[in-house]
Amino acid sequence: VSALVSPAETGYLVYDLHSDRLHQLNPAASLVVELCDGERSLDDLHEILQPLVGDEGWTACRTWIDAAIDDGLIAADKDADPPVNAKQLTARANELWEDDDVLAAFVCQERAASLEPEDPAVWYTLGELAQVVGRRSDARHAYERYLDKRPDDAEIAHLLIALRGDPAPARASDECIEQLYARFASFYDETMTGDLEYRAPELLRCALADALRGRTDLDVLDLGCGTGLAGQQLRSLARRLIGVDLSPTMIDQARARRIYDALDVDELAAYLRRGHTRFDVIAACDTLIYFGDLAQVIEPAAQRLRAHAAIAFTTERGDVDPFVLTDSGRFSHHPNHIRAVAAAAGLVVARLDDEVLRFEYGRPVRGLVAVLQMPSA
Ligand SMILES: C[S@@+](CC[C@H](N)C(=O)[O-])C[C@H]1O[C@@H](n2cnc3c(N)ncnc32)[C@H](O)[C@@H]1O
Repeated sequence: VSALVSPAETGYLVYDLHSDRLHQLNPAASLVVELCDGERSLDDLHEILQPLVGDEGWTACRTWIDAAIDDGLIAADKDADPPVNAKQLTARANELWEDDDVLAAFVCQERAASLEPEDPAVWYTLGELAQVVGRRSDARHAYERYLDKRPDDAEIAHLLIALRGDPAPARASDECIEQLYARFASFYDETMTGDLEYRAPELLRCALADALRGRTDLDVLDLGCGTGLAGQQLRSLARRLIGVDLSPTMIDQARARRIYDALDVDELAAYLRRGHTRFDVIAACDTLIYFGDLAQVIEPAAQRLRAHAAIAFTTERGDVDPFVLTDSGRFSHHPNHIRAVAAAAGLVVARLDDEVLRFEYGRPVRGLVAVLQMPSA
């Protein structure tokens, strides 16, 4: 075989580096490819296949083999394999990924990993690609190989909890969040507002403006403020706007925006429990995706609200009640969980809207936009 072969559920995926074509082979074609191991002649193939498929079947096989040789899938000469190394294959995988040809990219990267199994970077990329194409067990295997060599990687350790189906932590660890956003901060705004069509901040502001009947003199706390994308929207409602985030790198970006009156690097649940200042609005846009049970945040936040105040947040919507850690490493929450947590904290659910928050790999990310309010006397 002169191309890259990857086993798939019903046969093989074959990517031909020369023609840049990906073939999805059915089980019969896969068997032929498997028999073309460089050691067997056409006569050998005839001897094996003819008793299985009969004369007519063999004629069809011959036609397919000739076409496969023409297509570059099978080489007539067993020494025809082009010399390709892991670096070249990774480069090709990245090009294909750029062009959204993710399945072919996965096949290239899988071969790169088999050629260079001691290099953690090839496993990391293979894990990412396996996730993009929805090959969960391949992603798990690749990330496990990577983590063997990079045991301090808190992000991948967190992802593996989900991919292995291990019991979820109460929230993503501080190390995981800090690592993830130190890496992401410099291109966060561009990625979110560009390719991912991030709409959560605007949705949150609209829901809040509606619930608070247009007030614009509010003391607002922005939890997990990040670079300030949500803060930018909240600013129009605020007399005073405070941002808190665990990631110093994200806070640096927020500071450069010059829209906050104060910014703190802190873990948000600890921040809520520690302080006494009260707010008119406590917002958390795309932040509670890193928490399992939302009571961890909503209960201490409810203690920091003034009369008529509101907590407003977005979460990713899940079908599992109460919540689940998904393969993305983020939690999704069921609307019933939000209702239950609000009731336990003595809050009224003013809004709980189904919305598309952004896109991921071209697919919509379904979310909930929630506004919980202090009950009026
Ligand atoms: C997806 S970003 C959202 C940022 C911003 N709210 C926005 O809408 O663009 C999530 C932010 O939450 C922060 N974060 C996650 N868990 C946190 C925690 N436990 N304490 C403080 N910040 C946290 C991250 O550092 C990150 O900046």
